[in-house]
Amino acid sequence: MALNLILMGLPGAGKGTQAQFIVDKYQIPHISTGDMFREAISKGTPLGLKAKSFTDNGNLVPDEVTNGIVRERLSKDDTQPGFLLDGYPRTLEQADALAGMTNELGKPLSAVINIDVDPKILTDRLTARFICKNCGATYNKLYHMPKVSGTCDICGHHEFYQRDDDKPEAVKTRLKVNVKMNTPLIAYYKDRDLLFNVNGDQDINKVWQDVDKILSTL
Ligand code: AP5
Ligand code: MG
Ligand code: ZN
Repeated sequence: MALNLILMGLPGAGKGTQAQFIVDKYQIPHISTGDMFREAISKGTPLGLKAKSFTDNGNLVPDEVTNGIVRERLSKDDTQPGFLLDGYPRTLEQADALAGMTNELGKPLSAVINIDVDPKILTDRLTARFICKNCGATYNKLYHMPKVSGTCDICGHHEFYQRDDDKPEAVKTRLKVNVKMNTPLIAYYKDRDLLFNVNGDQDINKVWQDVDKILSTL
């Protein structure tokens, strides 16, 4: 059966980090709306131009834009064995739009995994994040340094960068906007018996063990 998943969590909760483990093990496409916007922005496409003014400040991109790119992505053939949505939906309007898409496409959701972390610790996590310029692997000055200092564990490259929206002002807005939306969304999926909570305030490998325990029961 297809594994149709949503990975939820506040900015910095560890969605991207856990997504990498999930897609490696279960071989399903990783669909991160944030990654799609960043790619469009770096290529200067019309979507990128539309998204940039929102993402730079840490605000949400309008629902109709976001719903449009997810609809297009989910209708591709590689989602046959399943998919992992990371960072979508983030509003109730998006959740309703997604319900319409999964219904039309005959791809019902298997589970929603919510990585639960107290927002108080997330500012530090986000401002300490750095990313490999070559392969996109994510590290953290406080919690997850490369094994060999200055060298990416995955690809061996030596250059890293920080995301534009990891500056303190944008982080503040991201947390504020997302904390507000998070509670009603959690309730939405709890009502539909799809929600699984994972404690995201533990070692990265321990979080993955907990996530995988859930996935193995589906
Ligand atoms: P997006 O890219 O999704 O950003 P986000 O939600 O703010 O989440 P992040 O990617 O920052 O965090 P993450 O949970 O993936 O954590 P990570 O694994 O990297 O969205 C960016 C922007 O795009 C939005 O602000 C918005 O403008 C727009 N957008 C995207 N989706 C949208 C939508 N649906 N609607 C409208 N607009 C949308 O980990 C973070 C750091 O912590 C890393 O350094 C990592 O190494 C470390 N870490 C991870 N796990 C742990 C752990 N267990 N313990 C300690 N450190 C950890
Ligand atoms: Mg992410
Ligand atoms: Zn790398």
